[in-house]
Amino acid sequence: MPDERFEARRTSGWRVWPVAAAVVILLFGLAERAAAQDAVSYFRQNCVSCHTIGGGRLTGPDLRDVESRQERDYLTRFLMNPQVMLDAGDPYAQAMLEQARGVVMPLPPGITPDMAEALLDLIAAESELEESQFVGLQLSDRPLTPEDIVVGRALFLGTRPLLGGGAACVACHSVNSMTGLGGGRLGPELSKVYERLQGRTALGTWLSAPPTVTMQPVFREHPIAADEILPLVAFFEEAARAGGEDTAQASVGFLLLGLGGTVAGLVAFDLLWRRRFRAVRRPLVHGHHPEGARS
Ligand code: HEC
Ligand code: HEC
Repeated sequence: MPDERFEARRTSGWRVWPVAAAVVILLFGLAERAAAQDAVSYFRQNCVSCHTIGGGRLTGPDLRDVESRQERDYLTRFLMNPQVMLDAGDPYAQAMLEQARGVVMPLPPGITPDMAEALLDLIAAESELEESQFVGLQLSDRPLTPEDIVVGRALFLGTRPLLGGGAACVACHSVNSMTGLGGGRLGPELSKVYERLQGRTALGTWLSAPPTVTMQPVFREHPIAADEILPLVAFFEEAARAGGEDTAQASVGFLLLGLGGTVAGLVAFDLLWRRRFRAVRRPLVHGHHPEGARS
């Protein structure tokens, strides 16, 4: 005679397993999706300034279908240590370096073998798409106008505030060939940056997500608006054309301005402070030694 309770338990056992399996699959799926998501934001933060997927070459090669050019294993090792792989000097590395005009890809920050694999998976998946989300900034290719240069200069100097609320470039940079005045010294002099960062598209993309330690935190929250990028590029192009890095003279000008400001500030502060100090001291001194007060 069939044991009904046993039967019942067995069927419920059969029902539990698929559920458990589904949960496990779901969890793995979520973990995988999280890893993929990590790779997306990692790529966005650390790679798009130099690479597109399907949008053409920037400083680094277009990564679309990179695995049709080179083995996965080579690429993983490359991501884990670009310098060493380039130093190895095999023909593939040599050709890459030559096309990049000698720019060595920096070590991706905090890269792990898992992340390297996830990034290459991402690149492979994005290569399949008609248009990858990493096709890059599609800058209009309209001609740059004198008006652009004027706007770009104003944006650089901060006389026209950046729409996104980012700090004016002049706080940290100078462009001596164009402004004469110099500027902040935290960042590099930018007269030649149009050439250094390889022209309109690459510089425009660079500005859309500045990848440097100092600028990234500022401009991630306050990105430079798409409409502001071309004018800035126009300004830098003009600066490069104007050439003449008159660094010494310009920075003396800025130094004097800075010094003047500092001195004026000190004098003002001193006056204020002295008045406040006396204001406090006088009643005290007068209180104790009415005749001795000679502040
Ligand atoms: C500062 C620019 C720069 C950044 C940032 C950068 N790369 Fe590169 N990358 C290059 C250059 C340049 C090359 C070509 C080799 C060389 O000259 O260093 C290259 C080569 C590569 C290659 C090999 C391409 C090929 O054709 O075989 C891969 C893959 C790659 N980069 C992936 C990445 C990933 C992923 C990131 C983000 C973690 C990244 N790169 C960040 C500049 C950069
Ligand atoms: C808070 C200071 C700061 C501000 C504001 C700032 N930058 Fe920078 N920028 C830097 C620093 C510092 C570097 C050098 C790389 C680094 O150390 O992060 C740099 C590098 C650059 C480079 C690359 C130079 C090269 O030769 O590779 C460009 C281009 C650039 N900045 C453009 C701009 C523009 C355009 C603006 C205004 C929209 C701007 N920066 C605002 C600090 C700043």
